[in-house]
Amino acid sequence: MRAVGFRSPGGPEVVEVLDVPEPEGHDLLVVDVAGAAVNPVDVATRSGQIPTEGTTLLGWDLAGTVIRAPEGSGFAPGDRVAAMTAPLGTGIASMAERVALDPGFAVAVPASLDLLVAAALPLAGVTAVQTLRLADLRPQDRVLLVGAQGSVGSHVADRLLAQQGHVDLLVRPDDAAPWTRRLEASPAVGTVRTDPSTVEPGGYDVVIDTAGVPTLVGAVREGGRFVTITPFSAPTPEDHPDVDVRLTSVEISREDLQDVMDRAASGEGLLPDVVTLPLDEAAQAHARLEAGGVRGKLVLVP
Ligand SMILES: NC(=O)c1ccc[n+]([C@@H]2O[C@H](COP(=O)([O-])OP(=O)(O)OC[C@H]3O[C@@H](n4cnc5c(N)ncnc54)[C@H](OP(=O)(O)O)[C@@H]3O)[C@@H](O)[C@H]2O)c1
Repeated sequence: MRAVGFRSPGGPEVVEVLDVPEPEGHDLLVVDVAGAAVNPVDVATRSGQIPTEGTTLLGWDLAGTVIRAPEGSGFAPGDRVAAMTAPLGTGIASMAERVALDPGFAVAVPASLDLLVAAALPLAGVTAVQTLRLADLRPQDRVLLVGAQGSVGSHVADRLLAQQGHVDLLVRPDDAAPWTRRLEASPAVGTVRTDPSTVEPGGYDVVIDTAGVPTLVGAVREGGRFVTITPFSAPTPEDHPDVDVRLTSVEISREDLQDVMDRAASGEGLLPDVVTLPLDEAAQAHARLEAGGVRGKLVLVP
């Protein structure tokens, strides 16, 4: 069976389609993968920024169809499912023709949701849910969201605008992708900035950074919160004793993933634009993501 991985870390060119054994496991859910999204964590793993040993398989997100289901799992062959596999902790990578996983990681994909869109949702959507939980916002908080056009950022924006009365955004100057237009049309959107240096120092109760702009810790008032998802570009808490710096560390959660799927299927939530590529073009997908400027989600199709 074919799976995406690398033998030793390096540039996008080290990404290969490898021949690996069929997944096994009596008590595991075996899924025929329809799509596996490419995320920045795959790039960080392949480049060696996140250390791994030996040949490493890649991929956190998948959606597909159940081939085999353990008794009592609640799933049956033919069911459409999605999962976040978190391979750095579980060893289960999603960019493969077939994947065997703990049934507890999987949720049903609602009938109205395209499987390739479902494949684009897990890591970004679950991170957004858990980041907002960590941010613990009050209705009156003055909030700045950094990177609202990104994968995680657009999910955070989607939920924030439904929940808060007023949110300021910081995005890239030339962002005119459909979801950004939708955000700008929301009555909850305050100022949309493109230059971090124009942000008022101390002007916010909470800054949520999904883009890795740690200097914006200066935009948080004394006693406020800076909530970031980027561990490699985060402010050092000791340097900012007056600000509560919090870092999301995403965890597998069936409840949060189901919430992401349900919101997308409801017609209320964000549906990312999906760009599909064959598994053979995994290296090109890495090069595109690493270069920046990708809008929407790259999804590999086995
Ligand atoms: N802590 C966790 O548990 C966790 C979970 C998921 C993701 N992450 C991390 O979070 C980060 C974002 O993930 P993602 O999937 O959302 O990636 P993404 O889709 O690439 O989004 C990141 C966005 O940030 C934008 N950006 C970068 N610098 C910016 C700036 N100065 N101003 C405005 N926007 C800026 C990028 O724009 P350009 O493309 O134009 O550069 C891109 O749109 C990655 O580093 C990822 O590894 C962490």
